Amino acid sequence: MKQRMKMRTLSALALAVGIAFAVPAAAGEVEVLHWWTSGGEAKSVGELKKILESKGDKWKDFAVAGGAGETAMTVLKSRVVSGQPPTAAQVKGPGIQEWAREGVLANLDDVAAAGKWDSLLPPVVSNVMKYQGHYVAVPVNVHRVNWMWANPEVFKKAGATIPTTWEEFAVAADKIQKAGFIAVAHGGQPWQDSTIFEAVALGTGGADWYKKAFVELDQKALNSPQMEKSFATLRIVQKYIDKDAANRDWNLATAMVINGKAAMQFMGDWAKGEFTAAGKKPGKDYICMPVPGNKGTYTFNIDSFIMFQQKDPSAKSAQAHLAAAIMEPQFQEVFNLNKGSIPVRLGMNLDKFDQCAKDSAAEFVAASKSGKLVPSWAHEMAMPPANKGAMFDVVTGFMNTPSMTPKAAAEKMATAGAKK
Ligand code: GAL
Repeated sequence: MKQRMKMRTLSALALAVGIAFAVPAAAGEVEVLHWWTSGGEAKSVGELKKILESKGDKWKDFAVAGGAGETAMTVLKSRVVSGQPPTAAQVKGPGIQEWAREGVLANLDDVAAAGKWDSLLPPVVSNVMKYQGHYVAVPVNVHRVNWMWANPEVFKKAGATIPTTWEEFAVAADKIQKAGFIAVAHGGQPWQDSTIFEAVALGTGGADWYKKAFVELDQKALNSPQMEKSFATLRIVQKYIDKDAANRDWNLATAMVINGKAAMQFMGDWAKGEFTAAGKKPGKDYICMPVPGNKGTYTFNIDSFIMFQQKDPSAKSAQAHLAAAIMEPQFQEVFNLNKGSIPVRLGMNLDKFDQCAKDSAAEFVAASKSGKLVPSWAHEMAMPPANKGAMFDVVTGFMNTPSMTPKAAAEKMATAGAKK
């Protein structure tokens, strides 16, 4: 794999995997790499900092701006290659396994056993946090990605109905544009393009096809009529995005819905963190609904932190405090209330959470039973980063090239999904 980090020498020098944490003792410092810099995100990560500091440890913030973390991942690689990994870094999905294979991650088994993680996490989550049966990452939350955020006031002024299908969407979007509003708030960045596209594709091809195409990377499913139809629908959605979308950050797009400039945004529920930070209430100031065509399905995105091996005992103990704190109920509640996500820890009381979060929790369970719970590939959950990057290029290439046909794009998706 081209993007694989060449760190074998580094791994050889690093402490052997398998050395578990010593019992946490002295306070120390943790340097935490993350990309949570928007209003809602910064508030959420601030809560983690507070909890850690309340244990007497020091928090060294290592924030790298850029939605979905692409820049953060580049910075992380260069830090590790130069022998200066942070204590913890926000890394997700198959990326966790890639880092573990490099032999640079700490073994979190003792913290996990003390915190009973095995019984508090659904296996779909704990399996991803483990490498060869050992915990190397700690999960933070569950984000649902296939949401639509709508401003009911804008819909009302335009005389439009909030859509549940792409046909209804086109009717509503025409009315919204005629009434002088932007129909779809979007930022033209590859990860945002693919965030919309994966929801369109899930609604178009269904969950079984989605899993074949984006999890198994099955060539026939990738280059298929379902994929062509998904690109054809993306062209329609694209018509309703404003001209200034190029490179707009996702939270600025959310602000357009909050301020009533735009009618809707298709985005994961970190967008809810922005509504919450702006004091807006769901069901009144804004509506959360599945993306058109996505009812009954659920694309999940689980944030997590990997921990790098530490030599210094106080750094080791602070790292163990951080890992333990993330799975504690106190953190799971306060962080997720701000972040827009739901707790990843099972059995949490959701009384303080709003209806969108309650719906998300109920639908996670329902979709898991009906086989319609799928990992978000646009958010690192489904495929190796190299394939994901190649698919981002195809989707964004399609959006930026009006002459590219859905058929040509489907062929390119198969190439992007081939083993790298
Ligand atoms: C996602 C991440 C979320 C949120 C979002 C925008 O990939 O899981 O926590 O930060 O990117 O940056």
